[in-house]
Amino acid sequence: MQRARSIRQDIDRILVTQQQIADRVSEMANEISAELMSLEGDSEIVLLPIMTGSVIFVADLMRQLPMRLRIDVVTVSSYTGLSKKSQGARLRDKIPESIRGQHVLVIDDILDSGSTIRLIRSELENLGVRSMRSCMLLRKTIPSAMATPCEYVGFDIPDEFVVGYGLDYNGYYRNLPDICVLKADAH
Ligand code: IMP
Ligand code: MG
Repeated sequence: MQRARSIRQDIDRILVTQQQIADRVSEMANEISAELMSLEGDSEIVLLPIMTGSVIFVADLMRQLPMRLRIDVVTVSSYTGLSKKSQGARLRDKIPESIRGQHVLVIDDILDSGSTIRLIRSELENLGVRSMRSCMLLRKTIPSAMATPCEYVGFDIPDEFVVGYGLDYNGYYRNLPDICVLKADAH
């Protein structure tokens, strides 16, 4: 019988360590709290994490936001199978109607081509939200990503395919605690 092996051996190198992530997430939480807590009106604050890549990021971030808030989720598919290139973003379910008129903070793992966040922003605009902001843990330093509006960015990284801290390759490697680059032959 084959035994489970560690996914650590598939890593070429660590790009952002878990300590660097923790420090930066705290800074982002402070910045976001200051801004969202100064919003006026009766609207609620709703976090809208994009599944599945943002699952660890939102869990860490939201526990450092002290204000009253709700969370809803959306699922966007942008990769088919083993491709590392975006195939265009597609919304799996409708955005919950309950966020109409609310202040929405969209949360995602990485800004790459920008098609995911552009899709979500236009859906939110059509739905009619009170305000929207987006918060990305990572942004690739490529023209399409840098030209996409985004209020909060954790780290700017080079144009490489990364995994860990929620980011996957073909569904795997999300459980790595650091942001890593895989070896060329990993799968
Ligand atoms: P965009 O729509 O091209 O901006 O891509 C955003 C989505 O693609 C993210 O939510 C990720 O799910 C995925 N993605 C983009 N680059 C990477 C990467 O380097 N590693 C893992 N997933 C990625
Ligand atoms: Mg994603």
